[in-house]
Amino acid sequence: MKGRILSGMRPTGRLHIGHLSVLENWVKLQEEYETYFMVADWHALTTAFDETEEIKGKIWDMLLDWLSVGIDPEKSVIFVQSHVKEHAELHLLFSMITPLSWLERCPTYKDQVQQFGEKGKDISTYGFLGYPLLQAADILIYRADTVPVGEDQLPHLELSREVARRFNHLYNARVFPEPKAKLSKLALLPGTDGRKMSKSYNNYISITADFEVISDKVRQMVTDPQRIRKTDPGNPEVCTVYLYHKIYNPVELEQYEADCRGGKIGCVACKKKLAAKMDEALKPIREKRNELEKNPDLIQDIITAGAEKARKEASITMEKVREVMKI
Ligand code: TRP
Repeated sequence: MKGRILSGMRPTGRLHIGHLSVLENWVKLQEEYETYFMVADWHALTTAFDETEEIKGKIWDMLLDWLSVGIDPEKSVIFVQSHVKEHAELHLLFSMITPLSWLERCPTYKDQVQQFGEKGKDISTYGFLGYPLLQAADILIYRADTVPVGEDQLPHLELSREVARRFNHLYNARVFPEPKAKLSKLALLPGTDGRKMSKSYNNYISITADFEVISDKVRQMVTDPQRIRKTDPGNPEVCTVYLYHKIYNPVELEQYEADCRGGKIGCVACKKKLAAKMDEALKPIREKRNELEKNPDLIQDIITAGAEKARKEASITMEKVREVMKI
């Protein structure tokens, strides 16, 4: 029998190419697993409870991007968390059996409260403390056995395992499998300025950027600062453009590296080539997105059907949960 995967993302709006390796991984997983992909809008509320007017648009934009890269409603259950209220019920029931200390010791908790505090926002709320428990409910309600996550999410997954174990033990039942993390080696792409790619640094390229935007962003990339003239030998190890060539131009990589070191190719030409390669890679995504944008009814149908399928599966779990808890 196929394993079952659940994964999710908070709705951050349009995605950038830094997200692409995660999504391409999801696309592949669709072939090997039963896959559930969820837009975690309630999780977004834990920190953005005061910016709710933007959430609907962000959900929509992220969904369109998912579909544009090949997350396929024929293969996956694609849905929005808040459309399946059962998650909230399971979260509530879990809250009865989860010691506060399990949540307080989550490394992301104190960090985030402090970081937001420095920006003048108090997120030391009940909801934010419960963030990983809501995530446990998301996973366990589908009895998913596998969760593809980044390393930052490992403590959250550990909590899901502990909650599953505690529930099964307390009610002497085997309702929940202990989900395991699936860490995959993902290419980490820095932003155009060499720092972490992030919307707030404005150093990102959207996955649907057109050729002009791509070229513009690539032109701004930092190269070897020691290199002034084209004939100066370059050092690809300190060059962001080189890191991008690794991903977008693997076939010619060696040639470009040698030409850079030998002072045979200038940064302008090297960047032009990269922009052309990136455009080639992103073009099908862009075209798919344009097509999907013309058809909002189709998107609406996909998320309605996704919520129905998800709810059906979640309801089966909740019946078992209520039965073993005798409520
Ligand atoms: N916490 C995840 C993030 O910040 C989003 C998320 C919510 C999630 N529920 C999940 C991820 C369940 C995996 C499984 O990206």
